Amino acid sequence: MRVVITGGGGMLGQKLARALAGSGGIGDRAIDTLALADVKKPPAVTAPFKVTCHKVDITDRSALDALFADGADVIFHLAAIVSGESETNFDLGMSVNLIGSINVFEAARRCGNCPIVVFTSSIAVYGGEIPAMIEDWTILNPQTSYGAEKAAAELLLTDYSRRGFLDGRGPRLPTISVRPGKANLAASSFMSSIFREPLQGQEAVCPVGPEYEHWYLSPRRCIENLIHAAELPGDAFGQNRCFALPGKTHAIGDMVDAMGRIAGEEPVKLIRWEPDAAIQKIVLGWRAYFNPAKALALGFVADESFEDNIRFFLEDDIEKPGASTA
Ligand SMILES: NC(=O)c1ccc[n+]([C@@H]2O[C@H](COP(=O)([O-])OP(=O)(O)OC[C@H]3O[C@@H](n4cnc5c(N)ncnc54)[C@H](O)[C@@H]3O)[C@@H](O)[C@H]2O)c1
Repeated sequence: MRVVITGGGGMLGQKLARALAGSGGIGDRAIDTLALADVKKPPAVTAPFKVTCHKVDITDRSALDALFADGADVIFHLAAIVSGESETNFDLGMSVNLIGSINVFEAARRCGNCPIVVFTSSIAVYGGEIPAMIEDWTILNPQTSYGAEKAAAELLLTDYSRRGFLDGRGPRLPTISVRPGKANLAASSFMSSIFREPLQGQEAVCPVGPEYEHWYLSPRRCIENLIHAAELPGDAFGQNRCFALPGKTHAIGDMVDAMGRIAGEEPVKLIRWEPDAAIQKIVLGWRAYFNPAKALALGFVADESFEDNIRFFLEDDIEKPGASTA
Protein backbone atom coordinates (compact mmCIF):
# COMPACT_ATOMS: atom_id res chain seq x y z
CA MET A 1 0.00 0.00 0.00
CA ARG A 2 1.28 3.52 -0.86
CA VAL A 3 0.48 6.26 1.64
CA VAL A 4 0.93 9.99 1.00
CA ILE A 5 0.92 12.72 3.67
CA THR A 6 0.58 16.33 2.52
CA GLY A 7 1.84 18.70 5.20
CA GLY A 8 4.16 15.81 6.05
CA GLY A 9 6.73 18.19 7.52
CA GLY A 10 4.24 19.78 9.92
CA MET A 11 3.56 18.94 13.55
CA LEU A 12 0.79 16.40 12.95
CA GLY A 13 2.33 15.17 9.67
CA GLN A 14 5.58 14.18 11.38
CA LYS A 15 3.78 12.56 14.32
CA LEU A 16 1.52 10.65 11.92
CA ALA A 17 4.52 9.47 9.90
CA ARG A 18 6.25 8.21 13.07
CA ALA A 19 3.07 6.45 14.22
CA LEU A 20 2.71 4.69 10.85
CA ALA A 21 6.39 3.74 10.98
CA GLY A 22 5.69 2.17 14.38
CA SER A 23 2.66 0.18 13.26
CA GLY A 24 3.95 -0.70 9.79
CA GLY A 25 0.46 -0.51 8.32
CA ILE A 26 -3.09 0.80 8.48
CA GLY A 27 -5.56 -1.75 9.81
CA ASP A 28 -4.53 -5.11 8.37
CA ARG A 29 -2.86 -3.55 5.29
CA ALA A 30 0.95 -3.23 5.32
CA ILE A 31 2.54 -0.02 4.03
CA ASP A 32 5.10 -0.45 1.21
CA THR A 33 5.85 3.24 0.66
CA LEU A 34 5.17 6.41 2.62
CA ALA A 35 5.58 9.69 0.72
CA LEU A 36 5.94 12.82 2.85
CA ALA A 37 5.22 16.05 0.96
CA ASP A 38 5.48 19.62 2.17
CA VAL A 39 6.25 23.06 0.80
CA LYS A 40 9.76 22.56 2.26
CA LYS A 41 11.27 19.07 1.92
CA PRO A 42 10.11 17.29 5.11
CA PRO A 43 12.47 15.42 7.44
CA ALA A 44 12.56 11.65 6.85
CA VAL A 45 11.36 9.18 9.47
CA THR A 46 12.90 5.78 10.15
CA ALA A 47 10.43 3.09 9.17
CA PRO A 48 10.26 -0.61 8.27
CA PHE A 49 9.05 0.46 4.80
CA LYS A 50 10.35 2.89 2.15
CA VAL A 51 9.93 6.58 3.04
CA THR A 52 10.35 9.29 0.40
CA CYS A 53 10.42 13.04 1.10
CA HIS A 54 9.18 15.58 -1.45
CA LYS A 55 9.21 19.35 -1.76
CA VAL A 56 5.71 19.92 -3.15
CA ASP A 57 3.57 23.04 -3.09
CA ILE A 58 -0.06 21.86 -3.27
CA THR A 59 -1.03 25.00 -5.18
CA ASP A 60 1.12 23.63 -8.04
CA ARG A 61 -0.86 20.96 -9.90
CA SER A 62 2.13 19.71 -11.91
CA ALA A 63 4.09 19.16 -8.68
CA LEU A 64 1.15 17.13 -7.35
CA ASP A 65 1.05 15.12 -10.59
CA ALA A 66 4.68 14.14 -10.00
CA LEU A 67 3.95 13.25 -6.35
CA PHE A 68 1.07 11.01 -7.39
CA ALA A 69 2.77 9.50 -10.46
CA ASP A 70 2.96 6.16 -8.61
CA GLY A 71 -0.64 6.46 -7.36
CA ALA A 72 -1.81 6.27 -3.75
CA ASP A 73 -4.04 4.05 -1.64
CA VAL A 74 -4.36 6.33 1.39
CA ILE A 75 -3.81 10.11 1.37
CA PHE A 76 -3.67 12.13 4.58
CA HIS A 77 -4.26 15.70 3.42
CA LEU A 78 -2.88 17.83 6.25
CA ALA A 79 -1.19 20.71 4.38
CA ALA A 80 -2.73 24.03 5.36
CA ILE A 81 -2.17 27.65 6.26
CA VAL A 82 -3.22 27.94 9.89
CA SER A 83 -5.99 30.16 11.25
CA GLY A 84 -4.13 33.34 12.25
CA GLU A 85 -2.12 33.50 9.02
CA SER A 86 -5.19 32.79 6.87
CA GLU A 87 -6.87 35.75 8.54
CA THR A 88 -3.96 38.15 7.91
CA ASN A 89 -3.13 36.81 4.43
CA PHE A 90 -6.44 36.07 2.68
CA ASP A 91 -4.89 35.21 -0.70
CA LEU A 92 -2.43 32.70 0.76
CA GLY A 93 -5.12 30.99 2.87
CA MET A 94 -7.47 30.74 -0.12
CA SER A 95 -4.79 29.40 -2.46
CA VAL A 96 -3.54 26.69 -0.07
CA ASN A 97 -6.58 25.76 2.03
CA LEU A 98 -9.18 25.84 -0.73
CA ILE A 99 -7.50 25.73 -4.17
CA GLY A 100 -4.70 23.51 -2.82
CA SER A 101 -7.24 21.13 -1.29
CA ILE A 102 -9.13 20.95 -4.59
CA ASN A 103 -5.81 20.19 -6.29
CA VAL A 104 -5.17 17.32 -3.83
CA PHE A 105 -8.70 15.96 -4.30
CA GLU A 106 -8.26 16.15 -8.10
CA ALA A 107 -4.89 14.37 -7.84
CA ALA A 108 -6.58 11.66 -5.75
CA ARG A 109 -9.30 11.39 -8.39
CA ARG A 110 -6.69 10.98 -11.13
CA CYS A 111 -5.19 8.03 -9.21
CA GLY A 112 -8.24 6.18 -10.56
CA ASN A 113 -8.56 3.73 -7.65
CA CYS A 114 -10.84 5.78 -5.34
CA PRO A 115 -8.12 6.23 -2.70
CA ILE A 116 -8.95 6.93 0.93
CA VAL A 117 -8.49 10.66 1.66
CA VAL A 118 -8.36 11.76 5.30
CA PHE A 119 -8.75 15.56 5.32
CA THR A 120 -8.05 17.47 8.53
CA SER A 121 -10.88 19.97 8.85
CA SER A 122 -11.36 22.11 11.94
CA ILE A 123 -13.97 23.18 14.47
CA ALA A 124 -13.35 26.65 13.01
CA VAL A 125 -16.12 25.72 10.51
CA TYR A 126 -18.59 26.55 13.32
CA GLY A 127 -19.58 29.94 14.70
CA GLY A 128 -22.05 32.82 14.40
CA GLU A 129 -25.78 32.32 14.90
CA ILE A 130 -25.88 28.70 15.99
CA PRO A 131 -26.78 27.08 19.33
CA ALA A 132 -24.06 26.88 22.00
CA MET A 133 -24.04 23.06 21.80
CA ILE A 134 -22.77 21.83 18.42
CA GLU A 135 -24.44 18.65 17.17
CA ASP A 136 -23.47 16.61 14.12
CA TRP A 137 -26.21 18.35 12.13
CA THR A 138 -25.42 21.93 13.21
CA ILE A 139 -24.88 24.15 10.16
CA LEU A 140 -21.37 25.22 9.24
CA ASN A 141 -21.17 28.97 9.86
CA PRO A 142 -17.47 29.88 9.95
CA GLN A 143 -16.45 33.31 11.21
CA THR A 144 -12.90 33.30 9.81
CA SER A 145 -11.48 32.86 6.32
CA TYR A 146 -9.67 29.71 7.54
CA GLY A 147 -12.98 28.23 8.71
CA ALA A 148 -14.69 29.17 5.44
CA GLU A 149 -11.91 27.54 3.39
CA LYS A 150 -12.09 24.35 5.48
CA ALA A 151 -15.91 24.30 5.19
CA ALA A 152 -15.77 24.69 1.40
CA ALA A 153 -13.21 21.87 1.11
CA GLU A 154 -15.40 19.69 3.35
CA LEU A 155 -18.36 20.03 0.96
CA LEU A 156 -16.15 18.98 -1.94
CA LEU A 157 -14.70 16.03 -0.02
CA THR A 158 -18.21 14.70 0.55
CA ASP A 159 -19.23 15.32 -3.07
CA TYR A 160 -16.07 13.71 -4.50
CA SER A 161 -16.86 10.72 -2.23
CA ARG A 162 -20.48 10.57 -3.42
CA ARG A 163 -19.23 10.48 -7.01
CA GLY A 164 -16.74 7.71 -6.24
CA PHE A 165 -13.71 9.85 -7.16
CA LEU A 166 -12.20 9.27 -3.74
CA ASP A 167 -13.18 7.78 -0.38
CA GLY A 168 -13.16 10.82 1.90
CA ARG A 169 -13.15 11.16 5.67
CA GLY A 170 -13.08 14.68 7.12
CA PRO A 171 -12.55 14.81 10.90
CA ARG A 172 -12.96 18.32 12.36
CA LEU A 173 -10.06 18.60 14.75
CA PRO A 174 -10.47 20.26 18.14
CA THR A 175 -7.61 22.57 19.08
CA ILE A 176 -4.60 20.34 19.56
CA SER A 177 -2.86 20.88 22.90
CA VAL A 178 -0.14 20.55 24.07
CA ARG A 179 1.47 21.20 20.67
CA PRO A 180 5.26 20.63 20.64
CA GLY A 181 7.88 22.78 18.93
CA LYS A 182 7.74 26.51 18.45
CA ALA A 183 4.79 28.91 18.65
CA ASN A 184 3.04 29.18 15.28
CA LEU A 185 0.75 31.72 13.60
CA ALA A 186 -2.47 29.98 14.66
CA ALA A 187 -4.66 32.23 16.82
CA SER A 188 -4.85 29.20 19.13
CA SER A 189 -1.06 29.08 19.55
CA PHE A 190 -1.24 30.27 23.18
CA MET A 191 -3.45 27.27 24.07
CA SER A 192 -0.27 25.20 23.84
CA SER A 193 2.48 27.73 24.52
CA ILE A 194 1.20 28.57 28.03
CA PHE A 195 1.90 24.91 28.95
CA ARG A 196 4.78 23.98 26.61
CA GLU A 197 7.01 26.96 27.42
CA PRO A 198 6.59 26.85 31.24
CA LEU A 199 7.07 23.05 31.25
CA GLN A 200 10.37 23.76 29.47
CA GLY A 201 11.34 26.47 31.98
CA GLN A 202 10.34 29.49 29.86
CA GLU A 203 7.82 32.31 30.34
CA ALA A 204 4.63 32.43 28.28
CA VAL A 205 1.84 34.96 27.78
CA CYS A 206 -1.85 34.10 28.09
CA PRO A 207 -3.94 36.57 26.05
CA VAL A 208 -7.34 35.46 27.47
CA GLY A 209 -8.68 35.17 31.01
CA PRO A 210 -8.80 31.94 33.07
CA GLU A 211 -12.55 31.59 32.41
CA TYR A 212 -12.05 31.20 28.61
CA GLU A 213 -13.44 27.79 27.54
CA HIS A 214 -12.53 25.81 24.46
CA TRP A 215 -12.53 22.28 22.95
CA TYR A 216 -9.27 20.29 23.05
CA LEU A 217 -7.57 17.07 22.04
CA SER A 218 -3.99 15.91 22.64
CA PRO A 219 -1.65 15.27 19.68
CA ARG A 220 -1.41 11.60 20.72
CA ARG A 221 -5.18 11.00 20.60
CA CYS A 222 -5.45 13.10 17.42
CA ILE A 223 -3.00 10.85 15.57
CA GLU A 224 -4.81 7.72 16.80
CA ASN A 225 -8.03 9.23 15.45
CA LEU A 226 -6.54 10.14 12.04
CA ILE A 227 -5.33 6.55 11.60
CA HIS A 228 -8.71 5.22 12.79
CA ALA A 229 -10.37 7.44 10.17
CA ALA A 230 -8.32 5.69 7.49
CA GLU A 231 -9.05 2.21 8.89
CA LEU A 232 -12.85 2.39 8.89
CA PRO A 233 -14.84 1.36 5.81
CA GLY A 234 -16.08 4.38 3.86
CA ASP A 235 -19.73 3.34 4.22
CA ALA A 236 -19.47 3.73 8.00
CA PHE A 237 -19.40 7.52 7.60
CA GLY A 238 -22.74 7.74 5.77
CA GLN A 239 -23.63 10.55 3.38
CA ASN A 240 -21.72 13.31 5.16
CA ARG A 241 -18.06 12.38 5.28
CA CYS A 242 -17.17 15.20 7.71
CA PHE A 243 -17.73 15.12 11.46
CA ALA A 244 -16.50 16.65 14.73
CA LEU A 245 -13.84 14.57 16.48
CA PRO A 246 -14.28 13.88 20.19
CA GLY A 247 -12.52 16.29 22.53
CA LYS A 248 -12.96 17.82 25.97
CA THR A 249 -14.17 21.29 26.99
CA HIS A 250 -11.80 22.98 29.42
CA ALA A 251 -11.44 26.48 30.90
CA ILE A 252 -7.90 27.86 30.67
CA GLY A 253 -7.75 28.24 34.47
CA ASP A 254 -8.65 24.54 34.97
CA MET A 255 -5.98 23.53 32.43
CA VAL A 256 -3.38 25.58 34.29
CA ASP A 257 -4.48 23.88 37.54
CA ALA A 258 -4.04 20.49 35.82
CA MET A 259 -0.50 21.47 34.85
CA GLY A 260 0.17 22.40 38.48
CA ARG A 261 -1.10 19.01 39.68
CA ILE A 262 1.18 17.14 37.26
CA ALA A 263 4.29 19.35 37.18
CA GLY A 264 4.13 21.46 40.36
CA GLU A 265 3.63 25.21 40.83
CA GLU A 266 6.90 26.43 39.25
CA PRO A 267 5.62 26.25 35.61
CA VAL A 268 2.34 27.91 36.65
CA LYS A 269 4.29 30.95 37.91
CA LEU A 270 5.87 31.38 34.45
CA ILE A 271 2.52 32.36 32.85
CA ARG A 272 1.95 36.11 32.38
CA TRP A 273 -1.74 37.06 31.98
CA GLU A 274 -1.86 39.86 29.36
CA PRO A 275 -5.15 40.34 27.45
CA ASP A 276 -4.70 40.71 23.65
CA ALA A 277 -7.68 42.19 21.80
CA ALA A 278 -6.61 40.91 18.34
CA ILE A 279 -6.37 37.29 19.50
CA GLN A 280 -9.53 37.56 21.59
CA LYS A 281 -11.43 38.84 18.53
CA ILE A 282 -10.73 35.53 16.77
CA VAL A 283 -10.85 32.98 19.59
CA LEU A 284 -13.92 34.37 21.39
CA GLY A 285 -15.90 33.48 18.23
CA TRP A 286 -14.88 29.83 18.48
CA ARG A 287 -17.08 27.18 20.03
CA ALA A 288 -16.48 25.18 23.19
CA TYR A 289 -19.39 22.72 23.47
CA PHE A 290 -19.74 19.71 21.16
CA ASN A 291 -21.71 16.49 21.08
CA PRO A 292 -19.59 14.39 18.68
CA ALA A 293 -22.11 11.52 18.71
CA LYS A 294 -21.26 10.21 15.24
CA ALA A 295 -17.52 10.07 15.95
CA LEU A 296 -18.00 8.41 19.34
CA ALA A 297 -20.27 5.78 17.74
CA LEU A 298 -17.54 5.14 15.16
CA GLY A 299 -14.92 4.53 17.86
CA PHE A 300 -13.03 7.84 17.81
CA VAL A 301 -11.63 8.84 21.20
CA ALA A 302 -10.95 11.86 23.45
CA ASP A 303 -8.52 12.35 26.33
CA GLU A 304 -9.78 11.48 29.81
CA SER A 305 -8.79 14.85 31.31
CA PHE A 306 -6.33 17.69 30.66
CA GLU A 307 -3.86 15.90 32.93
CA ASP A 308 -3.59 13.42 30.02
CA ASN A 309 -2.59 16.22 27.63
CA ILE A 310 0.12 17.38 30.04
CA ARG A 311 1.40 13.83 30.66
CA PHE A 312 1.49 13.02 26.93
CA PHE A 313 3.52 16.18 26.29
CA LEU A 314 6.00 15.20 29.02
CA GLU A 315 6.23 11.64 27.64
CA ASP A 316 6.30 12.41 23.92
CA ASP A 317 7.61 15.92 23.31
CA ILE A 318 9.35 17.66 26.22
CA GLU A 319 12.58 19.30 25.03
CA LYS A 320 14.02 20.17 28.45
CA PRO A 321 16.48 17.48 29.53
CA GLY A 322 15.73 16.15 32.98
CA ALA A 323 12.21 17.60 33.17
CA SER A 324 10.30 15.75 35.85
CA THR A 325 6.78 15.55 37.17
CA ALA A 326 5.86 16.71 40.67
N1 LIG B 1 -3.10 21.75 15.33
C1 LIG B 1 -4.37 22.11 15.51
O1 LIG B 1 -4.76 22.59 16.60
C2 LIG B 1 -5.38 21.92 14.41
C3 LIG B 1 -6.74 22.15 14.67
C4 LIG B 1 -7.65 22.00 13.64
C5 LIG B 1 -7.22 21.60 12.39
N2 LIG B 1 -5.90 21.38 12.16
C6 LIG B 1 -5.47 21.01 10.82
O2 LIG B 1 -4.58 19.90 10.90
C7 LIG B 1 -3.64 19.98 9.84
C8 LIG B 1 -2.23 19.85 10.37
O3 LIG B 1 -2.04 20.82 11.37
P1 LIG B 1 -0.64 21.04 12.11
O4 LIG B 1 -0.96 21.49 13.45
O5 LIG B 1 0.24 19.89 11.88
O6 LIG B 1 -0.12 22.31 11.29
P2 LIG B 1 1.35 22.63 10.73
O7 LIG B 1 1.34 24.07 10.37
O8 LIG B 1 2.38 22.13 11.68
O9 LIG B 1 1.41 21.74 9.42
C9 LIG B 1 0.85 22.15 8.21
C10 LIG B 1 1.90 21.91 7.14
O10 LIG B 1 1.36 22.32 5.88
C11 LIG B 1 2.44 22.80 5.12
N3 LIG B 1 2.01 23.63 4.00
C12 LIG B 1 1.57 24.90 4.05
N4 LIG B 1 1.35 25.35 2.80
C13 LIG B 1 1.66 24.34 1.95
C14 LIG B 1 1.66 24.21 0.56
N5 LIG B 1 1.29 25.22 -0.24
N6 LIG B 1 2.03 23.01 0.03
C15 LIG B 1 2.43 21.99 0.82
N7 LIG B 1 2.46 22.07 2.16
C16 LIG B 1 2.08 23.24 2.73
C17 LIG B 1 3.27 23.60 6.11
O11 LIG B 1 4.58 23.83 5.64
C18 LIG B 1 3.19 22.72 7.36
O12 LIG B 1 4.32 21.88 7.45
C19 LIG B 1 -3.92 21.27 9.10
O13 LIG B 1 -4.75 20.97 8.00
C20 LIG B 1 -4.70 22.09 10.11
O14 LIG B 1 -5.54 23.02 9.47
C21 LIG B 1 -4.96 21.53 13.14
